[in-house]
Amino acid sequence: MRIDIITVLPALLESPLSHSIVKRARERSLVDIVVHDLRPYGKGTYKHTDDYPFGGGAGMVLMIEPVYRLIEDLKKERTYDEIIYTSPDGLAFTQKEANRISCLKNIILLCGHYKGIDQRIRDHLITLELSIGDYVLTGGELAAAVITDAVVRLLPGALSDGESALTDTFQDNLLAPPIYTRPASFHGWEVPQVLLSGDPVKIQQWQEKESLSRTERLRPDLLTDLSE
Ligand code: ADE
Repeated sequence: MRIDIITVLPALLESPLSHSIVKRARERSLVDIVVHDLRPYGKGTYKHTDDYPFGGGAGMVLMIEPVYRLIEDLKKERTYDEIIYTSPDGLAFTQKEANRISCLKNIILLCGHYKGIDQRIRDHLITLELSIGDYVLTGGELAAAVITDAVVRLLPGALSDGESALTDTFQDNLLAPPIYTRPASFHGWEVPQVLLSGDPVKIQQWQEKESLSRTERLRPDLLTDLSE
């Protein structure tokens, strides 16, 4: 898979995409992540990438020309399955959407800009708008990092068997069961006895029961989704 990320703040994306499972996936060439600085595509001597909004109002708006030119350059090299814009008014990014995107070959993530982007970019260049939650970030970079992380860990080979994404919270609309490690007893706080029993059938039954009761208690909406 290849992920091209377009941003005016490339430094914001460096660290989240250079550690842990995403780093390993990149090293193993499971994913090619290329962060593009929009600035060189900017206008004039100062390489402006934003401008005042028509009709007035506070804040600067990301211009269409730099974005158009960069996307056109990328499209010359390959075909993109989705060109995604990160925005609080996009569709909710869910595990289901992460699963779907992880099966695509080439995607572009255009990071949103604090005051917004020229609507014509959204109307004519973007194929999908995604929000990572009902709150407003200063820009779309952290949202792009979240989407990339959630997608990359699903790529075949990114996780070891023990880390398998199949047992993740949300994968079957259930929260994951609680997990424990040594010591089995700490200040009188005990690990559930069944986990120490060595009986895989009993352990699995317990985990399924815990998953369900946790979901009923903490996220009943997930169970409603299931019956729809
Ligand atoms: N940009 C700003 N806020 C955002 C959000 N909640 N999701 C995606 N992109 C954003």
